[in-house]
Amino acid sequence: MSPFLLTRNLPEHATDAALRADVLKGLTGTPKTLPPKWFYDAEGSELFEKITELPEYYPTRAEREILVDRAGEIAAATGARTLVELGSGSSEKTRFLLDALTELHTYVPVDVSESALTLAGQALIEERPGLDVHALIADFTGGMALPDTPGPRLVAFLGGTIGNLLPAERSVFLASVRALLSPGDALLLGTDLVKDEKVLVEAYDDGAGVTAAFNKNVLTVIDRELGADFDPGAFEHVAVWDRDNEWIEMRLRSRTAQTVKVPALDLAVHFAAGEEMRTEVSAKFRRDGVRAELSAAGLELAHWWTDGQGRFALSLSVAR
Ligand code: SAH
Ligand code: AVI
Repeated sequence: MSPFLLTRNLPEHATDAALRADVLKGLTGTPKTLPPKWFYDAEGSELFEKITELPEYYPTRAEREILVDRAGEIAAATGARTLVELGSGSSEKTRFLLDALTELHTYVPVDVSESALTLAGQALIEERPGLDVHALIADFTGGMALPDTPGPRLVAFLGGTIGNLLPAERSVFLASVRALLSPGDALLLGTDLVKDEKVLVEAYDDGAGVTAAFNKNVLTVIDRELGADFDPGAFEHVAVWDRDNEWIEMRLRSRTAQTVKVPALDLAVHFAAGEEMRTEVSAKFRRDGVRAELSAAGLELAHWWTDGQGRFALSLSVAR
């Protein structure tokens, strides 16, 4: 069987400290916010996988369609020997790339979700003897120490997860990705595209309530990790299209006036009836904007592919 290494970039207590800092800042700010990376405990990762199968949630299917069509071109253009994937989750769509990259030596999935990395990594080594899988538990916004593996390097960031970063965070993030690359190395980036508001809102407010459960899961994570007494049932899932910023915003709306205690932070937080707390932005993109953001980070757009319905784009850019 091929080697499977699981490395933690940060000691476990650093994750605790980061959660505390984020929750303290987010719950004491106006308006209240929580960063989306805390959705993804084992339950949240499973709920996300269920979202990808919902009839309303088109991005996964659209991106898979592009990967099926273009994996050969991506392989030919990059000749990658190392594939680093940020926010790899289940690595389900990645398999099309792994099949096409005939020179590939090492796959480095990077994720904050240890459960997702372990499940995906173990399945991959059984499926693909001969491939080195070096999984990394790390925050992709926090500076990653990648293993020393052979180039050329291809960094993949799929699913449209870049849209979960705010614009200022995106520019810092893209510069940090560029710093992982040598000239000629490449970034494969998935971006969901601006489209009809109804289609967008339904993708984030599905009829079966799976996205609502995913959204509320962040409260369960805070209850478990910080001893808080959030009652997920006391909050309502909200998804709205912000036309000016061109992003979907997920929020949790307090059904009543209530006070939530967070003992680990020695904090009591008051919510007014109807008060909304932002839990995620999911930005939608246009080609010119993506090109400009890449260029500002020292990455030159080389290919732009969309699915047949023009809903989602994969771009391949090259480090200058
Ligand atoms: N790439 C997969 C999964 C997308 S879900 C797909 O396209 O289907 C987003 C993934 O990013 C989750 O697995 C989540 O755990 C991970 N993630 C979110 N924020 C992260 C962060 N700051 N650092 C590392 N991983 C993160
Ligand atoms: C991971 N990310 C790209 C998803 C998105 O569409 O923004 C997370 C998600 N949030 C609600 N549904 C899915």
